[in-house]
Parts: sequence; structure tokens; C-alpha cells
Amino acid sequence: MNLLLPSTASSSSSLSPSALFPCYSHGFSSSSFKFSKKESRCTRKAKRTEITAKFELKPPPYPLNALEPIMSQETLEYHWGKHHRTYVDNLNRQIDGTDLDGNSLEDTVVISYNKGDILPAFNNAAQAWNHDFFWESMKPGGGGKPSGDLLKLIERDFGSFEKFLDEFKTAASTQFGSGWAWLAYKESRLDVGNAVNPLRSDEDNKLVVVKTPNAVNPLVWNYYHPLLTIDIWEHAYFIDFQNGCRNYISVFMDKLVSWEAVSLRLEQAKARIMEREEEAERKRREEEEKPTISKATPELWTQNE
Ligand SMILES: [Fe+2]
Repeated sequence: MNLLLPSTASSSSSLSPSALFPCYSHGFSSSSFKFSKKESRCTRKAKRTEITAKFELKPPPYPLNALEPIMSQETLEYHWGKHHRTYVDNLNRQIDGTDLDGNSLEDTVVISYNKGDILPAFNNAAQAWNHDFFWESMKPGGGGKPSGDLLKLIERDFGSFEKFLDEFKTAASTQFGSGWAWLAYKESRLDVGNAVNPLRSDEDNKLVVVKTPNAVNPLVWNYYHPLLTIDIWEHAYFIDFQNGCRNYISVFMDKLVSWEAVSLRLEQAKARIMEREEEAERKRREEEEKPTISKATPELWTQNE
């Protein structure tokens, strides 16, 4: 399984080779769809030529015809081969030579979101990230029901798997215009100001369903760890389902979702949260242990001196 780490930026705790090698081929072997030399490169350009920013178009972790007959090769050729490619190419042009150049894709998304006052590169960066995440949310022969901790959490936070399905499908089908629907692991924010909850536990974090317009994704809200997404842009389903968006959403959940990918992302999210909490605790201890700066005792002078 090859996954992008569903958290911001600089974390190095990804479990997959694809996170380390963005062009990792995932065994891609479609005989009818060839990569150009440019796509097969995994390294950034060493020399500063025309464009230094180099995010690569990563292929889905399966051949482009692997999701047929549910999602056709033609859809993948357009959706990945043209739409996704355009986001990556535009992003590279937009950030070339700017302060954004050199960041990870996740960092570029978060930084360019700029607290809602988005910078020009945001839409292309987020769409590039979202599509990588979307391809890896599916697998041939997917769907069905999750198991293990993921299923337990779904049942705890939504009441049942069926209720979760309803909520996810409703969120996806009611997104006005283009956008995305997500299952995310929402980190608890019980600390307020300097009042720290001394009894924090995993129970404080919960699964949530959210939907986002256009290119926005939950990374920009911080403390939301994306686990699953579905692309609700018309280009995702029009070839195979025409205007049958609800049918596309149902079939996606029933036959395409890779619950293994979602489960792995959940484990990565928990690990990331633990890292953050340990880092926050370390900083708190450092603050407490800082020596108090005492004012130097003023020298006393007497008239005899
Ligand atoms: Fe798309």
C-alpha cells in the first residue's frame, strides 16, 4: 500500500515508499498509457534552469484500467492524465522562484491557504495533493466494510457503519458546485489558553465527515487529519455516469474505497497526534524549567565611600 502522509508537511513518519519517492511507480504497467521521460523522473533538477519548482505527477497506485468497469480507463486518462497533470504543471510555474518554492506539497497547501486569504498557488497545490489522496483512496475490488479499530471508531462516532455511509453520501451529494467530501480524524482541542486538560486521551479525538468547495481540503484547518476523500468535480464522473453524481458516490463507497488505505491513514494520524502532544509537552516543560531572571542586586553606596 502506498500512501501520502495525511498531515501537514514536514513529518517524516510516513510508512510508505511513495512518500519518500514521489515517483514510485506502484507497479504501474498500463500498456496503453506510456509515461514520458519527464514523468518518470523522481529527482528535483540540480541546476537552476527555467523552472526549479518540480513537483512530479505521481501515477495512481494501479494501472489506469484497473478500476473498470466502475471507473473507466478513459476517465483516468482524462482525470489523471490531463486534469491532475495540469494542476501539477501550473503549480510548478506559479511557485517557481517564489518563497513557496522548495516546500513539500503539504506545506505548500497550508502556507498558500494563508488563513483563508489564499495565494495564487493554493488551488493548484491543493488540487495536486487532493488528487494524489483520491487515487490512493481507491483500489480494484474495494468497497465493502472496514474492520478493526477503524470500524470501531466509525460505530462509536456515527452510531453504525450504515449511518456513516448515509452521512458521507449526503455530504458528497449536497456539495454545491465542485468540491470534495472527506472522512477526517479530528484532533481534540480541549486546551484553552494556558489551561491544559490533564486527562487527554484518544477518546477526545473523533471521526468527522466534512465537505469542501473547489480545492480546499481539511489540511488547511489544522488538527483535521484526512482519511478518505471523493472528488465531486464533474470531471471525476461525467464520462462514466454522466449527470448521475449520486450513483457515482454510491458506487465509489460500495466498490472502490480502499479501507486498508483509510485504516493506515488513521494509524498515521494517531501517531502524528502523539508526536504533536509530546512536542507540546516538551515545550511546556522547557518553559517551566527556565530559570527565573532575577534583577541584579543594586549596589549600595554609603556616604563614607
Ligand atoms: Fe478531479
